[in-house]
Amino acid sequence: MQIIQTASELRNALKRQDNIAFVPTMGNLHAGHIHLVKLAKQHASCVVASIFVNPLQFSPSEDLANYPRTLEADCEKLAAAGCDIVFTPSVAEIYPHEQTMTIDPPSIANVLCGTTRLSHFAGVATVVMKLFNIVFYNTVQPNVAVFGKKDFQQLFIIKEMVRQFNLPIEIIAGETVRDANGLALSSRNGYLTDVQRAAASQLNSVLQGIVNQIKNGYKDFVQLELQAAAQLTSQGWEVDYISIRSSTTLQPASALDKNLIVLGAAKITNKTSGKTRLIDNIELCITD
Ligand code: PAF
Repeated sequence: MQIIQTASELRNALKRQDNIAFVPTMGNLHAGHIHLVKLAKQHASCVVASIFVNPLQFSPSEDLANYPRTLEADCEKLAAAGCDIVFTPSVAEIYPHEQTMTIDPPSIANVLCGTTRLSHFAGVATVVMKLFNIVFYNTVQPNVAVFGKKDFQQLFIIKEMVRQFNLPIEIIAGETVRDANGLALSSRNGYLTDVQRAAASQLNSVLQGIVNQIKNGYKDFVQLELQAAAQLTSQGWEVDYISIRSSTTLQPASALDKNLIVLGAAKITNKTSGKTRLIDNIELCITD
């Protein structure tokens, strides 16, 4: 596996590649990321992963400085998973000048995670566009990029960006990988002690509870959202949102929608007595 730090070296290395599958990450890789790399391998002859903690998608109050950076271990995991090239640019390589132009995502970026993480998705879309322009610069199509379903709103916005900007890239969605208790794997789980980690699976249990009730024919979605939020609050969580939406449009679900997604974001107390914000979602399809 080649490790490349600059855009020009990467463009050179990828010259005239037949097809590329790209997996953008912020590093601190876990089994969820490795699943995406393996999925990428099924779609292309050359798999490129990037590791870049993108300052543009963190607000000043967020964990940019403390975000776990584990480059050596990450490279070992990527090599073992069969990744061909890992791109590990510096901040100056990606942002050599002040980034005064950004991608303005659609209004769906202002709900769910966008309510508390203002301009987060503009930062994500901007860096992903820049990375696409570097990785796919010289390539022969078809090109593929792989994103995880755990960040469903991010996946939705990236698909919209690709569609609305006519980017010649197919977006593939990878399933969420969970631990034995159902907790979705996330780099931020590293902030939790073992006890907190076990409690963190309550978020998934609550979402699963909603899914079960909908499958049993319960249609008062607002009531389900309120009950679930109250349950998490009583377990000591600080709830950002619990929301039942259409998985096709990401708009609040109506009783007529068949393809649904139940999403949640909430904060749990972590080992440094701060709060760790976790997100999760479960898709479901209603058949009559
Ligand atoms: O999902 C992530 O890890 C990041 O948001 C991404 C897509 C790599 C952009 O920085």
